[in-house]
Amino acid sequence: MNEIFEAIKTSAIRIKEAIEFDDTGYSKNQNATGDTQLKLDIKSDIIIEAEFKKVDSIKEIISEEKEDKTPLNKHGKWLIGYDPLDGSSLVDVNLSVGSIFGIYEGDYSGKNLKASVYVVYGPRVELVIATDCVKMYRLNKQNEFVFIKEIKLNEKGKLNAPGGTQKNWEAKHKEMIDSIFKDGYRLRYSGGMVPDLHQILLKGGGLFSYPATSDVPKGKLRMIFEVFPFAFVYEKAGGGAIDGKNRLLDLTPSHPHDTSPCFFGSNQEIERVKRVYG
Ligand code: AHG
Ligand code: MN
Ligand code: MN
Repeated sequence: MNEIFEAIKTSAIRIKEAIEFDDTGYSKNQNATGDTQLKLDIKSDIIIEAEFKKVDSIKEIISEEKEDKTPLNKHGKWLIGYDPLDGSSLVDVNLSVGSIFGIYEGDYSGKNLKASVYVVYGPRVELVIATDCVKMYRLNKQNEFVFIKEIKLNEKGKLNAPGGTQKNWEAKHKEMIDSIFKDGYRLRYSGGMVPDLHQILLKGGGLFSYPATSDVPKGKLRMIFEVFPFAFVYEKAGGGAIDGKNRLLDLTPSHPHDTSPCFFGSNQEIERVKRVYG
């Protein structure tokens, strides 16, 4: 799988440059979810596809910005689902954004996710690879990703990142979030799931939620490109990831762009969600 990690690193360096210097405006196109694509979404997708095309072991790719699957190598082994630029509408206000990758074998179900990777483009560029453990790397002046540390979640954290439009939350969700704040948790939410989830991982733990709401009853975040890859990272870091009741990695999407409500956190926070939703 190393050749895939190397292709992701090369893509990340090229995308970082595009984020720094390219136009942050919208294109005239919409993606499969109906979002108007930014020029940077399209460019990031093209960069990643071009780098993945050079890797023989990749059988097929599907991204948030593509309608359907793109076959690459008939004899390849891996399927990759990716979000080329998550949180792209935050670039024009100079907040952190990211890229997310899930590496699957066989099909794009949670149980067949074998590794995941995400990149954070912030004041610094960081890359996290989850296989049997979770390792963080940082880009240095020579454009090399240097190993920094292994990431482990504590059993309980201090941060709360509650996503979704509040006026559309269910009453039980609002009560749960209020009671978490009453227990002293601090709000940490930027609107970009990559930096929000990265912050919780690095600060020891907490809860990130994007629940079912009246406007998006199946949640907003997409299983293949966003939810499963981070569920894998959180589990391998010693925490949990559920849709309220079930483990996210037990789910199977029926369409590439299917979404799911999701909760990622350290173990005590995930138990708390289960008590409310279970
Ligand atoms: P994308 O930019 O790839 O469309 O996804 C953004 C995601 C995620 O990063 C964030 O947590 C969530 O959308 C926020 O959505 P809303 O602001 O619509 O709640
Ligand atoms: Mn996204
Ligand atoms: Mn995106």
